[in-house]
Amino acid sequence: MNVQLKQDCHFKNDGTDNFGADILKGLSAHPKKLSSKYFYDKTGDRLFQQIMAMPEYYLTNCELDIFQNKTEELAKAISNINESFDLIELGAGDAMKSSYLLKNLVEKGTNFTYMPIDISGNILSVLQENLKKKLPELEILPLEGEYFDMLDKATGISKRKKVVLFLGGNIGNMESEEARHFCNEVKRKLNAGDLFLVGFDLKKNPNTILAAYNDPAGITASFNLNLLTRINRELKADFKVENFQHYQNYDPISGACRSFLVSLCDQEVHVGNHLVYFKRDELIDMEISQKFSEQDIKKLAGDSGFHILVEIKDTKNWFVDSIWMV
Ligand code: AVI
Repeated sequence: MNVQLKQDCHFKNDGTDNFGADILKGLSAHPKKLSSKYFYDKTGDRLFQQIMAMPEYYLTNCELDIFQNKTEELAKAISNINESFDLIELGAGDAMKSSYLLKNLVEKGTNFTYMPIDISGNILSVLQENLKKKLPELEILPLEGEYFDMLDKATGISKRKKVVLFLGGNIGNMESEEARHFCNEVKRKLNAGDLFLVGFDLKKNPNTILAAYNDPAGITASFNLNLLTRINRELKADFKVENFQHYQNYDPISGACRSFLVSLCDQEVHVGNHLVYFKRDELIDMEISQKFSEQDIKKLAGDSGFHILVEIKDTKNWFVDSIWMV
């Protein structure tokens, strides 16, 4: 047992209690594991912006290439001029990529409502302001909250056809069972004929993939280490960040690109009232960024009750937006 309970521990009941419980559960697992969904505090958001601007991190530009240059193909695949629909985006953020599609649909006079879903109300108000300026005719209904709660809300509003977007290769940050479960849940909330557009990063030269996650400037390392700083701040912990080192690994056979933190010495860390022991060279499993073959995508679609309608790739064939039908 490498996590000791010194006395009952209560985390603040302000939305951080899941965070505390998840972190403690992860630090008592073998191997230790922290969820990358917790990378995104204020500093994490800023570091991720920096990652997206790195020359080695190709994912954002590839999907942008699709939305910028294959807009008409995308629009044709998801819409039909005679049919109205709701376009729901999971984790819309600033809608940088999807706004090209929105513009195309609005200019063609397509009858649709854009429903961006995000956990951050602040991001959604900024997005709404910007889209109102850029595309005044766009009907927009922002939905603030968890993906599945908001998807329930969106599907309850009307009986119109639904098209759900899940961009950015975010599906890769789930372990395979989790990804299957996620897609299955989306499918359960949709009706026959509804569409799910998912962005997948494809398997490619392993050196290209590894370079995107093992940058010489150490931004990805800081992105991982920042979670320890967040735990220190929010859970009254005393991780010495300098005692941990980022290690990135890509297995071209399975397509799993994983990041770890390595403990550089034997050490004890307090997390609230808990004590966590680390052996020198012990690992914390931090993040998976899964890469997919066409077969992997076909299997995931089939296993979760969809069939593939169309696939649209960037010019390098490194990334695909795969459009699935229930
Ligand atoms: C958000 N997600 C798709 C990124 C990825 O590529 O897995 C997160 C990331 N992690 C390290 N670099 C970028």
